[in-house]
Amino acid sequence: MSFIDSHCHINFHELSENIHDVLAKMQQNEVVAALCVSVNLADFPQVLALAERYPHIYASVGVHPDYESVEEPTVERLVELAQHPKVIAIGETGLDYYRLTGDLDWQRERFRNHIRASIACGKPLIIHTRSSAEDTLRIMAEEGAEKAGGVMHCFTENWEVAQAALDMGFYISFSGIVTFKNALQIKDVAQRVPMDRILIETDSPYLAPVPFRGKLNQPAYVKHVAEEIALLRGMSAAEVGQQTSGNFARLFKL
Ligand code: NI
Repeated sequence: MSFIDSHCHINFHELSENIHDVLAKMQQNEVVAALCVSVNLADFPQVLALAERYPHIYASVGVHPDYESVEEPTVERLVELAQHPKVIAIGETGLDYYRLTGDLDWQRERFRNHIRASIACGKPLIIHTRSSAEDTLRIMAEEGAEKAGGVMHCFTENWEVAQAALDMGFYISFSGIVTFKNALQIKDVAQRVPMDRILIETDSPYLAPVPFRGKLNQPAYVKHVAEEIALLRGMSAAEVGQQTSGNFARLFKL
């Protein structure tokens, strides 16, 4: 059995302070690789350092829509930073109308720049969308995001949104939220997404799956996400691990 955590933030201090334990726990739980996702340019060197140090840790480059007063990435800068062989994706990027309100033109412009960079460098997108599905899909379509491909990470939308993303060639990634008892809509989507388009993730240090809900999350726990999807689809966790790991390798061209 083996699993890959397609989205984590092990550079955040909660996890980086105990990185050796975090990596040992991954190994014990057969989590063979993880993608450490960048949220701003200031912290990108730490993300890259982890990827350079550990063969099974990969990096992305991008600026999260929740980070308002930070260095704004140009298309050229993103493309330049993405040249590193351990940088396998652009993001996380997208829109978030839940955490931030008011005039969010800057968020949409930033999202467009990430899509342009992704198309230019040939590395897929990691997309975050919260309370903004309609605009997210519209901007993806307007910018030709299907040319870049990518993943809708920590998916919490309905089947129609999943279908629109799938139609643009995107993958759908499920986090620990799929294990929550009341997450019926997400469980429904997890039963319907074609098996060759599913990824699993932790988004750690946040959103720990059951039975660790409310505690500090870590990549090792992605196994519990796989187990839940296995349960929902009448498969074994090993099969979910194998399929989602294959999807990860295909999407990120490993
Ligand atoms: Ni994230």
